[in-house]
Amino acid sequence: MNNAIARTTALLSTCALLLTGCGGGTKTVTNSTNNSPNSTTNNPATDTTATTGTSSGAIPIGIAVAQTSNVALLGQEEVAGAKLAEKYFNSKGGVNGTPIKLVFQDTSGDEAGAINAFQTLINKDKVIGIVGPTLSQQAFSADPVGERAKIPIIGPSNTAKGIPEIGDYVARVSAPVSIVAPNSVKAALKQNPQLKKVAVFYAQNDAFSKSETEIFQQTVKDQGLELVTVQKFQTSDTDFQSQATNAINLKPDLVIISGLAADGGNLVRQLRELGYKGLIVGGNGLNTSNLLPVCKALCDGVLIAQAYSPEHPGEINAAFRKAYNDEYKKEPPQFSAQAFAAVQVYVEALQALDKKSKVNKLQLPELRTELNKQILVGTYNTPLGEIGFTPLGEVIQKDFYVAQIKMPKDGSQGKFTFLK
Ligand code: ALA
Repeated sequence: MNNAIARTTALLSTCALLLTGCGGGTKTVTNSTNNSPNSTTNNPATDTTATTGTSSGAIPIGIAVAQTSNVALLGQEEVAGAKLAEKYFNSKGGVNGTPIKLVFQDTSGDEAGAINAFQTLINKDKVIGIVGPTLSQQAFSADPVGERAKIPIIGPSNTAKGIPEIGDYVARVSAPVSIVAPNSVKAALKQNPQLKKVAVFYAQNDAFSKSETEIFQQTVKDQGLELVTVQKFQTSDTDFQSQATNAINLKPDLVIISGLAADGGNLVRQLRELGYKGLIVGGNGLNTSNLLPVCKALCDGVLIAQAYSPEHPGEINAAFRKAYNDEYKKEPPQFSAQAFAAVQVYVEALQALDKKSKVNKLQLPELRTELNKQILVGTYNTPLGEIGFTPLGEVIQKDFYVAQIKMPKDGSQGKFTFLK
C-alpha cells in the first residue's frame, strides 16, 4: 500500500470508529435503571440528595469518563463495566437494602470536559463519590476540583505516576505504569531472547504516555537492551511516516509505543506497512479491542501488559465475565473490569460505613468524608482479584498478565490471547 493510501485508510478507519463508537457530542445523564437518557437539568438523582443523596431511594455515584472523542475508545469500555456493576450490586441488595444509581457525565477527551463533568456531579447531581476520569491527563486537572470539594474520587484507569498524590480524596483501582509496563517488555524478551535494539515511541502531549515511556525506557536499560531512538508524536496525529521511517532505519528488534488507542493503532499499522517485522509492545493506552479496527490484520502480535484477566478465579469475576459475555459476546477487557471494581469499592465501602452510622442519616459533606476514610481501609474481592489501598490511595493488587493480539489474515474478529 502506498503512503497516501495508507494515510487515508488510517484516517477513515479512525473516523469510522468515532462515528460508530463514540456517540454524539452532547452531555447527558443516563439513568441506567430505566435506560433512558435524561437531561442534566432534569436529573432524578438530584431530587434525592437534599442531605445525603439517599433520602428518597437510590444512592447516586458519579461516573465521569469519556463517552465522546477519541478517548471514548477507552471510556466506552468503562461505561460498560460500571453499568454491569450497578446491575449486579443492586440485584444483591445494593447498600444494605438501598440501591445505588449511577449518574453519568461525559468528560469527552480533554481537561475542560473532565472539570465540567466533575463540577456538575459534585454541585448539581450531588453524588457521594466519583469514578473517573479516563485519562491521567484529565485527572491532573479535574481531581483537584474534587479534592477541594472533599469528595472521594476513584480513578478507574489513570496509571501515570503521581495520581494518588493529587490529594487525600484521590485513589485509583488502576495499577500504575511502574508495576504493569515492565511485564510486556519481559514477555517480548521471552519470545525473542536475541532481541537487542529497541525503538521507543511516545505521545508527548499526554501525561500518562510520558509517564509510561519513562518506565519503558528504564526497563529497556535494566534488561541490558540498547535504546536506539526515542520518537515523539501527538495523540491527535494520524500520520507517523517520518517517525516510523526514522526508527526503522535503525533496525530495531522491538518497538515500544506509549500513546492512546487511535494514534497507537495507526502507528502500529504504519510501522508494518513500512516493513517493520520485529516485535511491538503497546502500552496501556492501546489496551482495548477498539484498537483492532484501526490496525486490522497488522495488529497481529502486539504485546500488551494487563492488570486483569478474564480467567481470574473467583465468584465475582465469574459473574462479571458471564454478564459481560452475555451482553457483548466477547471477553471483558481491563477497562471494564477496572470500572466494575471502582463501583464495587463504593458499594462495599458504603455497606461498611452504613453498619457504623446509617448513611441516609449523614449530611452529604460528612458522608463524602467518612466514605473516603472507609474506602481507604477496606479490602475488596473484585474481578481484578483482591485489592486494597495504601493510605495515600494507591491500589494494592497482586496479579498481572500479558496478552498478545491475534488477528486472522482478513483483519476481522481479532482477540487478546493471554500468555502463560
Ligand atoms: N492509562 C491511561 C491513562 O492513565 C488511560 O491516561
